[in-house]
Amino acid sequence: MQKTFYVTTPIYYVNDKPHIGHAYTTVASDVVCRYKRMCGYDVFFLTGTDEHGQKMEQSAQKQGIKPIELADRNNARFRELWKILNISNDDFIRTTQSRHKKTVWEIIRKMQASGDIYLGEYEGWYCTPCEAYWTETQLLEGNLCPDCGRETSKLKESSYFFKMSKYEDAILEHINKNPDFIRPESRRNEIVSFIKEGLRDLSISRINFSWGIPMEENEKHVIYVWVDALTNYLSALGYFDNESERKKYWPANYHIVGKDILRFHTVYWPAMLMSAGIELPKSVFAHGWWTVDGQKMSKSMGNAIDPVWLVDTFSRDSFRYFLMREVPFGLDGDFSFKALIHRINGDLANDLGNLVSRTCSMVKKYFNGMIPEYSISDALDENIYKAVEKSSKEADEHITNLSFNKALLSIWESISAMNRYIDDAKPWALAKDEANKGRLGSVLYTVLDGLRAVSHLIYPFMPETAMEIRKQIGSDDNINVSEEKNIYKMKLLKSGSMLGEIKNIFPRIDEKEMLEKVYSSQNKPENNPVQENLIDFSVFEQVELKAGKVLEAENVKKSEKLLKFKIDVGDGGRTIVSGIAKSYKPEDLLGKTIVVVTNLKPAKLMGIESCGMILAAFNGERHFVMELPESIPAGTRIK
Ligand code: MSP
Repeated sequence: MQKTFYVTTPIYYVNDKPHIGHAYTTVASDVVCRYKRMCGYDVFFLTGTDEHGQKMEQSAQKQGIKPIELADRNNARFRELWKILNISNDDFIRTTQSRHKKTVWEIIRKMQASGDIYLGEYEGWYCTPCEAYWTETQLLEGNLCPDCGRETSKLKESSYFFKMSKYEDAILEHINKNPDFIRPESRRNEIVSFIKEGLRDLSISRINFSWGIPMEENEKHVIYVWVDALTNYLSALGYFDNESERKKYWPANYHIVGKDILRFHTVYWPAMLMSAGIELPKSVFAHGWWTVDGQKMSKSMGNAIDPVWLVDTFSRDSFRYFLMREVPFGLDGDFSFKALIHRINGDLANDLGNLVSRTCSMVKKYFNGMIPEYSISDALDENIYKAVEKSSKEADEHITNLSFNKALLSIWESISAMNRYIDDAKPWALAKDEANKGRLGSVLYTVLDGLRAVSHLIYPFMPETAMEIRKQIGSDDNINVSEEKNIYKMKLLKSGSMLGEIKNIFPRIDEKEMLEKVYSSQNKPENNPVQENLIDFSVFEQVELKAGKVLEAENVKKSEKLLKFKIDVGDGGRTIVSGIAKSYKPEDLLGKTIVVVTNLKPAKLMGIESCGMILAAFNGERHFVMELPESIPAGTRIK
């Protein structure tokens, strides 16, 4: 029987359009799926969109449209992107589909049957500006929000709960017994410590909004978006339908996710599955995050890179290659155009593209484009066979373990071996003497045949390029092999066949010209982010911004985040409390001229009345206070 292999991506939120972070998870999943399919596995590859929840409801409201309209619009963008990136998913699930709703109800029924769901009261503290719920223990003294230091309000509402606490030991035991369940290893330790702190029962329904799947028995309650979303991995298989052929794919071999959502997949999801009596997925792999030029990528920073534009400007395969080669899967990485151009010019144009074109050109020149015979062997040829076998074995292991950059490194060893082989065998010198024709043909045959084998290895990463290479070298277009070890079987290329048309697969990029082009086109109006939160100028005018001189600065007792200042904004000095203590010591700002919002209603932070707000940029890690030249007098209006 064919071995099954089931891989999932997270289902993406559709409150916004896709960026390269989303493309990353999906391309990685595509690589392992294409590889396994090529090697004869029965693969099921699932992706989709997560369309419910309060955030979606609010985004739609802001844009004056229905949530489903917003979902349809962005869902189409994701589907389009997957086409552009050549993603080979077998299904695309949307959480608004009825097959999904039925599955969510069914899993909840099973959890109920285990006695794990009860109606209770959710009690939490809500910070409206941050839209975040906090537990009592998380709050700062005075019930203040631990993120922004502002007052929170107590929220009490009826909610269904899932007895997640009951599964604490079972999950820990599963993690211990199955070292591959959470990968990479560093993340496993993180999750283990989280569980050891103690699991609480999970509130799995909300009554303060309506965009979601209602509880079957109580329509007022909307099912918590994560319980809804995680179940998608079963919905697409028709898991609860006994007739479904796709049931055979469960348990999934890999849930591939970003590090930010690992906890949901390795704590909530296993607990739900255990409660419903369903086997757990074999492995959950958390990859790292991409930043752009060292900055966190986000809509509000305006630096989210549009993958569609990237593919248009470079090419889909070079983008796919870059994502998989540049950063070890599991670690964070930084995207920069420079790095992308270097990869294209180095690995793709110089090493691979050049190898294909110089080999094919020589076959054209010396053999009129006909694949020569392999008639005279030489010890040198062994280097190619050995290199290809080594690359194939290592790539198999690395792709199966999702170590994509290691797989590519290893594949490139074969490409380098072939380039060296040509330099050593010197076909141009052999061509000078008709007596060497047999050996000349054998050398060129060996490289063409090596390229044929390598086309299998690069196919999962760059499917279009692999097929183009096969065309150019006169190989058949059957990329599939029945087993992994058939990839390095050599001498399969048919002598006497004609090469295809020679085309440059990866033209070199002029770095300077390209950098100018990308930076200017990124700033073109049509590439500006679509902004949905525009305000009238009259609204902005109501905000009073003034230059302020810092007269005094000190830490706020018992607070890690807050600093207390006396700042002169033309009024001799007022108290302002600011949450920047993790980025600045009090003395750092003494005497500085900074930008202050002066007409905010006073707010109490840790019992201190704050009359204004300091402006600062926050890059996800630290604050940078906006400074003005010292010569600007306190109280100067900023417009
Ligand atoms: N809807 C949930 C997932 C539910 S799965 C049952 C969600 N969606 S998301 O659209 O916000 O994120 C989807 C994936 O994109 C996550 O795996 C996340 O880690 C990934 N990325 C989002 N931004 C990213 C980067 N900047 N870099 C790399 N991946 C990132 O979470």
